[in-house]
Amino acid sequence: MRIISSAVGMQKLARFWQRQGVRVGFVPTMGYLHAGHLSLVRAARKHVGKSGRVVVSIYVNPTQFGPAEDLASYPRDLKRDLQLCRAAGVDVVFTPGDAEMYLGKAEGNYSTYIIEEKLSQSMEGVTRPAHFRGVTTVVAKLFHLVLPAVAVFGQKDFQQAAIIRRMVADLNFPVKIIVAPTLREGDGLAMSSRNKYLDAEQRSQAVILFHALQAAKAAVARQSISAARLKSDLKEFFTAAPQARLDYVEFFDPETLEPVAEVKPGTQMALAVFVGKTRLIDNGRL
Ligand code: PAF
Repeated sequence: MRIISSAVGMQKLARFWQRQGVRVGFVPTMGYLHAGHLSLVRAARKHVGKSGRVVVSIYVNPTQFGPAEDLASYPRDLKRDLQLCRAAGVDVVFTPGDAEMYLGKAEGNYSTYIIEEKLSQSMEGVTRPAHFRGVTTVVAKLFHLVLPAVAVFGQKDFQQAAIIRRMVADLNFPVKIIVAPTLREGDGLAMSSRNKYLDAEQRSQAVILFHALQAAKAAVARQSISAARLKSDLKEFFTAAPQARLDYVEFFDPETLEPVAEVKPGTQMALAVFVGKTRLIDNGRL
C-alpha cells in the first residue's frame, strides 16, 4: 500500500493508471475510519475488481466546517487508519495537507469554489450554511487528483450524496457515484467518527435518532400522516432523552429532496440532533 501526500504525486499516478486503462475506485474520507468506511472500501473494490486500484483519501477539509464547529477537535488517528486501510486491501491512501489542497496560499487567497444551488438549500445547508460549498469543492478537487471511475459515499450523509450526484451530472465528471448503506452499531446508532465524542450517558441516549426513524416508519405504515403532525410527535418523542436536542427533522422526496406535506411509505426522513455538544445525523426511507 502506498501513502501519497502530494497532490501532484497523486495526480501523476492517477494519470499513469488512466493511460494503462486501470479503473480506480475512490473512497473520500476525513479519516478516523470505522467499519462503515471499510464497507465503502469493499464496495469500491467490488466495482473495480482485482485489476483495478482502490484509493482512500484522508483529509479533514477545513472549508466544510463553520467557524464554531469541530474542525480543531475532529478525531484523527492516521496510524490506525493506515493499518485499517492496509488490512482492507487499499492500494493507495492519499493524505494531502491544507497546503496541498488549498495551494499553500495565505488565508483569503484561495478563491475558487463549487456551489450547488438547489439541493443544498435545506436541512444541513440551513444549519451549516457554508458546509456543502466546502464539500463540493473538495470532492471536485479530489476527483481531479484521483481520476476515479467510481467513487463511493455513505448513505448516512444522504443530502451530501445527492448533492455530489448532482454536481457530477451538472459538471460532466466522468465518475460513477455509488451510495452504500449506513452501517449501524448493535443498538442501531449509525456509525460515525463523531460518536467518539459521546460519554457513556450520551452514547446510550444517542440511539434515539434510530428510534425516531423507527417510530416514524411504524406511524406511516399504518396510515399517511401530515409532516407537521409527525414533526410535532417526534419533538415530543425526544423529551425521553434529556441529553438530546432536535436540530431538525424533515420529510422529503428522496430524488428531489423537496419537502412533502403528507408523509407516507417511501418518503425519506432525515434528522440532526445535538447529543450534548455532539451533532449527529441520520436518515432513512420510511
Ligand atoms: O463525508 C465525508 O467524510 C466528507 O464530507 C468528504 C466527502 C470526505 C469530503 O470532505
